[in-house]
Amino acid sequence: MNHEESIPKNIVLIGFMGCGKSTVGRELHQRLGYRLMDIDHIIEETMGKKISEIFREEGESAFRDFETMQLHEISKQTDARHIISTGGGIVVRPENRALLRRLGYVVWLCAPEDVIYERTSRNRDRPLLNSPDARDKISALLTEREPWYRETAHLRVDTAGLESHELATGILESARYFFTHPA
Ligand code: S3P
Repeated sequence: MNHEESIPKNIVLIGFMGCGKSTVGRELHQRLGYRLMDIDHIIEETMGKKISEIFREEGESAFRDFETMQLHEISKQTDARHIISTGGGIVVRPENRALLRRLGYVVWLCAPEDVIYERTSRNRDRPLLNSPDARDKISALLTEREPWYRETAHLRVDTAGLESHELATGILESARYFFTHPA
């Protein structure tokens, strides 16, 4: 089996909070017409609760279970060609990293720590950063997670200073190359 046949033609966006996954996901969806699946939104809709409420009422580990369940659900879909946008912590579990890698072309969106702090401090919807020591939290989580993003991704893209349409163009070109060149 060659590379083209073995990997579904989905584009999967991973990366830390505030690195532009949702914005770039919407741009790719508009450009390609592929269905956009935002795992955080799917979880919120399925549970009828905001992510912050799930964290508060059921805990982070329950939220991680929902993420893994959603990845399994998406993996079962045979009609590929989706843009899959994920939450920043999805790479924490080894099981999720393996599932992501098999789902399609995995793009890691990243940005410098200062940019992440600046972007995430504008809203309070992220339970893990909703504390006075958010800056230290970002730093610690980035250090812990970077090796996991690196291990999971086929491509790394720095989003600082670029517009979403510029990012989408680069990602589309790389994805096209990936899907059309056997390993
Ligand atoms: C999380 C990131 C969030 C959301 C939840 C946990 C994380 O998604 O899934 O608050 O652990 O990094 P975004 O990366 O879209 O903010």
